[in-house]
Amino acid sequence: MDLKILTDFEKQSIGERQPLPERYLRLSDDELDARIASAKATLGERCVILGHHYQRDEVIKFADYIGDSLKLSRAAASRTKADYIVFCGVHFMAESADILRAPHQKVVLPDLAAGCSMADMAAPDQLEICWREMEQLGVRTDALGADGRAGVIPVTYINSSAAIKAFVGAHGGIVCTSTNAQSIMTWAWERGEKLLMLPDQHLGRNTGFKMGVPLDQMVVWDPNEMWGGLDADQVKAAKLILWKGHCSVHTRFTVPQIEAFRKKYPDGRVVAHPECTLDVVRAADESGSTEYIINTVKASPAGAVWAVATEVHLVNRLTAEVPDKTIVTLDPFGCLCSTMFRVSPNHLLWILEGLVEGTIYNQITVPEPTRTDAKLALDRMLAL
Ligand code: 13P
Ligand code: SF4
Repeated sequence: MDLKILTDFEKQSIGERQPLPERYLRLSDDELDARIASAKATLGERCVILGHHYQRDEVIKFADYIGDSLKLSRAAASRTKADYIVFCGVHFMAESADILRAPHQKVVLPDLAAGCSMADMAAPDQLEICWREMEQLGVRTDALGADGRAGVIPVTYINSSAAIKAFVGAHGGIVCTSTNAQSIMTWAWERGEKLLMLPDQHLGRNTGFKMGVPLDQMVVWDPNEMWGGLDADQVKAAKLILWKGHCSVHTRFTVPQIEAFRKKYPDGRVVAHPECTLDVVRAADESGSTEYIINTVKASPAGAVWAVATEVHLVNRLTAEVPDKTIVTLDPFGCLCSTMFRVSPNHLLWILEGLVEGTIYNQITVPEPTRTDAKLALDRMLAL
């Protein structure tokens, strides 16, 4: 079942987002396709287009690399031939690419308003306050103990700003993605008694739970409350401190939706992204990153029935790619990442034709010293 996305309606309002020159509005689909293909061909190997799995079809069809956050970070770090990395994804992904790029490369995000609401839930000043308050509550934040381990190691999901990654890098911490969260958390627990996992409480809780950490050894740190809303005993007893952040797309999936699916398809299976809540992930059959979801569904036998709990563009594309299986979105209305959706073919065309003419629009530049510190945290992840 392919869920319709409001593309025609959305076409009327493209210019209301990051404003585009008039000549890039109201172009037909055919003209957009032809001009994007032509600009891409003219740029040749000087330009690489990276596309996240949640991107819309009209954009993703021009991507040289399609993947989850980990795969795209590696692609950004390895495609050094290209002068320009056009990142069809959201802001934190383009920032990560800018941190990992070669010195001569430039990273571009087609619409600067393509952010991530989860990444926005952790601000650097909130993290600095959290770090100070944890120390005041009796957690050793930076000094090593007699066993050579830190009191707490910060671990940030790649869905965070460069400034958050920089803080984490400067304090002995590491970045994780939904693919490698378990091995990264293992790495971190070898180096610290506790982990501060941010900004997604659900990825942290789901991964910790899978690794056998009891729920009563996890606490939620609310950055809008004094002391995170916790007392010293709660923080001291915790093995895993979860930042109070979430993805508004993935937290829409519910256990009653899984029950309704199982009623309709008793042999059906459910695969959920780990940004879903713990009850949803526990009720699902499988859980993993966008790449894992795609591979798992594709590898299942013909005739298999799946409910997929992640962004609707990925689900629609998967439905079309595996016609021998029945695939439905777990939320009957489909969950749209509205910020990822901001990267329109019109924006992509504007960027590419600009590059052909020698003008770089929307370059993403992470300033020093943020870049160097954030790179520490990203490199630690990529080295694992
Ligand atoms: P993946 O790394 O699994 O692609 O997830 C990125 C993301 O933002 C999911 O919401
Ligand atoms: Fe951010 Fe959620 Fe969109 Fe992923 S789906 S980019 S976490 S808002």
